[in-house]
Amino acid sequence: MLSYRHQFHAGNVADVFKHAMLCRLVLALAKKDKPFCMLDTHAGLGRYDLTHAWSQKTAEWRHGIGRVWGRADAPAALHPYLDVIRAENPDGHLQHYPGSPWLARKLMRPDDRLVLCELNKDDCAALKLLFTGARHTAIHNQDGFHAMRAALPPQERRGLTFIDAAFDQADEFGRVTRALKEAHTRFATGMAAVWYPLMAPAAMLAFRRSLQAMGLPKTLQLELSVYPEDWTAHIRGSGMIVVNPPFGFDREAPPLLDWLWRAMSPENEGGTRCEWLVPE
Ligand SMILES: C[S@@+](CC[C@H](N)C(=O)[O-])C[C@H]1O[C@@H](n2cnc3c(N)ncnc32)[C@H](O)[C@@H]1O
Repeated sequence: MLSYRHQFHAGNVADVFKHAMLCRLVLALAKKDKPFCMLDTHAGLGRYDLTHAWSQKTAEWRHGIGRVWGRADAPAALHPYLDVIRAENPDGHLQHYPGSPWLARKLMRPDDRLVLCELNKDDCAALKLLFTGARHTAIHNQDGFHAMRAALPPQERRGLTFIDAAFDQADEFGRVTRALKEAHTRFATGMAAVWYPLMAPAAMLAFRRSLQAMGLPKTLQLELSVYPEDWTAHIRGSGMIVVNPPFGFDREAPPLLDWLWRAMSPENEGGTRCEWLVPE
């Protein structure tokens, strides 16, 4: 039974963090001539109308993209992400927020391939509609964890597996950890990125240790939180594990995270992290 609907959360602090980093990974892959493939195991709707009642109800986007999209002083490396959002809102009013599939497709080249899985039937139908006529884009109403078996390794032998699970079920940390292991086993030279919500420090330590015990190659851990560690009212921030990150990403990411954190944390609470979980 699927209970999670991303419409409530689209454009929030976690989305801005996740999508800003995702765009850098996609652009790094697009630097080389050879085409690549991105598998988005949990694709969502693809694009969100922030005037929708669910977005208005939580107003989470106001604390996320609402604080970032109009800023003229964003670092150049964030421009491609912000430019996609601005192109979706040409009249200068923030109404449409692109999800991971739309951001990725906009930054990929025509010959790069995008594979999207979305288990919710209605969301998947909306995603198919959004991508009507899109080249080299496959959309499956399928469990993204299972889809990895058929999709990996991609024929291009270059690419990114992006695992952005809903975290609405017990042991989702265990599931994404196993999925990361499977992605790496099937496609050892590929890049893989897993998003996760920040939970209690003990749970985070256990997650970190289980990842370190898996025999992964070089792996970075990125985090951005805008609330203190003992915050429990709602998620205080989120993180991303990146296996086989692009060369130099450990130096590129920290100033971007810092700028995003300052923009979205007016109280200067929480903070950022960019650390090797498995060193180079
Ligand atoms: C966090 S949202 C994805 C957001 C999207 N990746 C983005 O960044 O715009 C998680 C999505 O996964 C879907 N979902 C839940 N379980 C799934 C599964 N096993 N396989 C594929 N999709 C699933 C949910 O319906 C939801 O739309």
